[in-house]
Amino acid sequence: MKIAIYYGTETGNAEMLAEDIATGLEDAHDTSVADLAETAPEALKEADLNVIVCSSYDDGDFPASAKPFVARLEGEAPDLTGARFAIFGLGDSEYEATYGFGSMKLADLLVARGATALGDRPVHDAAGDDMPEDLALPWITAIIDAA
Ligand SMILES: Cc1cc2nc3c(=O)[nH]c(=O)nc-3n(C[C@H](O)[C@H](O)[C@H](O)COP(=O)(O)O)c2cc1C
Repeated sequence: MKIAIYYGTETGNAEMLAEDIATGLEDAHDTSVADLAETAPEALKEADLNVIVCSSYDDGDFPASAKPFVARLEGEAPDLTGARFAIFGLGDSEYEATYGFGSMKLADLLVARGATALGDRPVHDAAGDDMPEDLALPWITAIIDAA
């Protein structure tokens, strides 16, 4: 399966997790990793599955590297019908009122443009004890097996 992994990050955690996901999948799939900052929304139609890792910043805002992508999504209003994505958030429950808002808002924007969301939309909690890759790899493997 052609799987494109994208990250939206402020301080690098989402990029590291995107690389870990690629490493976990690359033996069985054709994987690529790219920054959302350098991605046109229409690119999501090219892979069989897009995996998006996105953190939250400030008051539930998008991280810096997701902002250009979001601007294109909102400004160009591309038709993403046929694009399939799974999204994994990075957040911190200390930010109680805006926990995981970045990835949730990005998922809603993609669905509003016609893309199809696969699986649930977990958020890794930086205040907890789990390592993000320990949650993300079983999560994406289950989605791929069901796809
Ligand atoms: C200044 C600041 C603001 C943050 N705001 C939020 C937030 O509103 N909601 C949330 O769930 N996490 C928030 N976080 C937590 C980050 O999303 C979390 O640390 C994540 O792992 C960062 O990933 P990144 O390095 O890929 O950006 C914030 C972190 C910082 C340092």
